[in-house]
This record gives sequence, C-alpha cells and structure tokens, in this order.
Amino acid sequence: MTLIDGKATAATIKAQIAEEVKEMVAKGGKQPHLAAILVGHDGGSETYVKNKVIACEQCGFKSTLIRYEDDITEEALLACVDKLNHDEDVDGFIVQLPLPKHIDEQKIIMAIDYKKDVDGFHPINVGRMAIGLPCFISATPLGILTLLQHYGIQTSGKKCVVLGRSNIVGKPMAQLMMQKQYGDATVAVCHSHSADLKKECREADIIIAAIGCPNFVTADMVKNGAVIIDVGTTRVSDATRKSGFRLSGDVDFEKVAPKCSYITPVPGGVGPMTICSLMKNTLAAGKKEYYQ
Ligand code: GUN
Repeated sequence: MTLIDGKATAATIKAQIAEEVKEMVAKGGKQPHLAAILVGHDGGSETYVKNKVIACEQCGFKSTLIRYEDDITEEALLACVDKLNHDEDVDGFIVQLPLPKHIDEQKIIMAIDYKKDVDGFHPINVGRMAIGLPCFISATPLGILTLLQHYGIQTSGKKCVVLGRSNIVGKPMAQLMMQKQYGDATVAVCHSHSADLKKECREADIIIAAIGCPNFVTADMVKNGAVIIDVGTTRVSDATRKSGFRLSGDVDFEKVAPKCSYITPVPGGVGPMTICSLMKNTLAAGKKEYYQ
C-alpha cells in the first residue's frame, strides 16, 4: 500500500509555480493577484482562506482578503464582486462558500466574471470543462487528477466510483474522470439514493469519496488493490486536541488502507492539493492562459 502524500506533492508544485513567477517578474511581468471574499466566521472557511493566503505568499502571488460580517446584504456582496470583476490588478478571485442562508450562492457565482473565476464554479467554466475546452477547473477535482498523475496511477479503462454529487466535487470529478483527455475511465456516481452503493464500490478500481460522512467507506466495500481518494474533511469533536476537534475523512482509514494499492490520508491528502490547484488556476489567470 502506498500512502499518497498530498502535502509533499503540493509543496513541489507550489515551488515550481514560485520559480515561474520569479522568472515572470524578473522579465518585467506582474505578480499574479488573487483576491478572496470571506463572509462571516465559519471555522472551516477561516482556515481554508488563511491557508490560501499563505499559499499565495509561497507562490510569490499578491493576495487580497476582503472580509464581511454575516449580515452583509446580497446587494452589497454583488457590488463587491462587480468591483473585483472590474479591478484590472486582480487576475482572479474567489468567494469562499458556504455563504449565509439569506444570500443566493448561485446568484453570486453567476455574477463573477468567468475569466476571473479561478474556482471554476461559473456555469461557463463548468460547461467548457464538460466539453473539454480550456477553462478553470474546480480546484478539488483538479488536485485529485494531479495527484493521480503525479503517482503514475492508471485511470484509463478503469472503473471509477465517485461518491457524492456536489457541484464543487462530485459532478466535476465524475465529468473529468470520464473524459478521454483526463481520466478516460468508466464512471459511476453514487449518492444517498443509489440502489446498491456497496456493490458499485466493491467493483471499483478507484473510489473517490466526497460525501462528508465520517468513516462511510468501510473495508467490506473495497476490493483488494483499489485506489482510494478521500475528499472528506468533517470536523469531529476530540477532547484530546487543543482545538477540541479533528478532521475525519469519509473512509475508515485504519481498516481500508491495508486492502488498497494507494490511499490518501486525511489530513494531508486531497486538502493541500485543492489549494495548490487554486494557485495553478491563479497563475493561469495571471498569464491569461485560457481567456484574454
Ligand atoms: N468551500 C469549500 N471548498 C471551497 C472551494 O474550493 N472554493 C470556495 N470558494 N469555497 C469552498
């Protein structure tokens, strides 16, 4: 069994990005600039955004963090998005999700200029991804593809089960694993209403678990030699930790790991790759790689 080290892989890629940015700047180019909008004080979102700002520093990017209290109106948030759309110094920006209930998330995503949508959430980027056109690809699926590639894991012709159908992970992941130019696999998407999810999993060469349910994938659901990618990061209370919680993946790691050929840990697997992919997208935005 090989433990997939997302932290080390992300560090290598961020170092490559930093090198490229150094050369760009030495030639008189501009530093890529990522802006992030954070609404409220959700613990998980605070951590993600803090880590995104740190990653920008590591890559030699400029970053701007814009914070609002969770009583911000939808109009005010839309005005901020509009301002960033028109700010020529900002190459790309994200609105950290989830947003408070009174704000229509989809409306905010639709308001983002797709050319600056480094999260790859805008329908234009989602649609272009679905038909294999150059675009910003959602960071978590892109990070997973990068990990599979980095470890030389064969996906072409394999049976892949994606657990979960979220817009951010499940749906784009399934699309990418299916496409010839990316995964080239046979893909099944399983969710809370799938008739025989366990059977689908037992037949899978690759399982990508993104349902946010701790220890959902148990050893009896995994065939020998399978590749397991765990996207889950649920906070579960743990009195032995200073923070009072630990992160739990969707996979019962202790029991599943001995059966696998490759497996990602939580933390240190997919998480660091998500942020690293956001950096890749920001570099591409800075270079106007996909859109003028
Ligand atoms: N919330 C959880 N994951 C993400 C992400 O990748 N981007 C944004 N903007 N919000 C998130």
